[in-house]
Amino acid sequence: MHTTTPAFRKTTETFASGAKTLPQRYFVSPEVFAQEQAGIFSKQWVLVGHQSQIAGTGDYIVQQVISESLIVIRDKSGEIRGFYNVCRHRGTRLKEDACGHTSTIQCPYHAWTYGLDGKLIGAPHMDDVPGFDRAEHSLHPVNLALWEGFIFVNLVDTRNASTRLRNPTARQAERGGYIPLEEWFAPLAGKFSHWNMSILRSAKRIEYDVRANWKLMFENYSECYHCPGVHPMLSKVSPYDSAENDLCEGPFLGGFMSINKGKSLTMSGNACALSVGKIENLQQVFYYSIFPNMLLSLHPEYVMVHQLWPQSPERTLILCDWFFHPDAFAVSDRGGGPDFNPDDAIEFWDMTNKQDWHVCELSQQGIASRAYQPGPYSSRESIPAAWDREYLRYVR
Ligand code: FES
Ligand code: FE
Repeated sequence: MHTTTPAFRKTTETFASGAKTLPQRYFVSPEVFAQEQAGIFSKQWVLVGHQSQIAGTGDYIVQQVISESLIVIRDKSGEIRGFYNVCRHRGTRLKEDACGHTSTIQCPYHAWTYGLDGKLIGAPHMDDVPGFDRAEHSLHPVNLALWEGFIFVNLVDTRNASTRLRNPTARQAERGGYIPLEEWFAPLAGKFSHWNMSILRSAKRIEYDVRANWKLMFENYSECYHCPGVHPMLSKVSPYDSAENDLCEGPFLGGFMSINKGKSLTMSGNACALSVGKIENLQQVFYYSIFPNMLLSLHPEYVMVHQLWPQSPERTLILCDWFFHPDAFAVSDRGGGPDFNPDDAIEFWDMTNKQDWHVCELSQQGIASRAYQPGPYSSRESIPAAWDREYLRYVR
């Protein structure tokens, strides 16, 4: 059972009548895109990965957030840290690859060398420079914190005291105030503990390059009005009108949909792994959007996560991971226990994802037309309408 208080309500019950889709400029304008980068992706906690991706000391990932390249690395004490990918000597990019393993962070230009904790530990001939102090030339850190095993970064400069707020309110957050991650995620505390997300491991990542504005993917994810036509296979195992939501307003939105008895959201229709935890009701799949770049889909035996990275008003990179319980992999290795067939789920959702991205691309094309006007949302689209309302608190 969920420990949170909000009750689940049918999608149509929370519909605010008169809700319309966003005006064209929100999907095509470089100015709006710049406002989003400055007002959302530079100020909010954004998802960059999962701790299982950098399981060992010195494992790292490099992620671009707005125009900034960041190194996210596990140090010798096991802590995950984030640094700007910028050398303290002459600014050179330190790591070029998307991920890897390293014992130190060495600049490719003049070989200044940093420890995994960001401290400068080697700088050839700099001892000859009067007044030079290594301690003053550590890598610039970025705010980084974990939620349920997922790694989030926040580019707000918290060394500047004016951005460090006591008792921040949502209004202050809109103005660029920094909210610690625990406070940001407080409304979700304990909500997903059954899924054991912090220990799960990704079996597969697929990257999608979608010719559509990032908001169209959030709006698409937030409703199943489109499911009968766009996802015939999904609709067979999960009735499109079964959605009930417990988070209906704010930065976290969503709820569950039913899965038909004995079925699973896989190509075969059968469960494809051990359950990820003690999931009492195997006939529910939970879908939540986590503002601004995470889609979280919780199935009984796997967790699918989309990371969205807006590239331009009309293009979005999407990283999709399928997470399973670590024991599921081990069971497969031993050749015993429940069948571990991650591809069964991955193929199902790869097909479904592509169906979604296709209609998002068609939307983008139509929205760019001079004929486009905001259209009325249906009562089955109460959650995309709520997502738009939340978004408009950050961008005008
Ligand atoms: Fe990095 Fe010179 S720029 S060592
Ligand atoms: Fe869909």
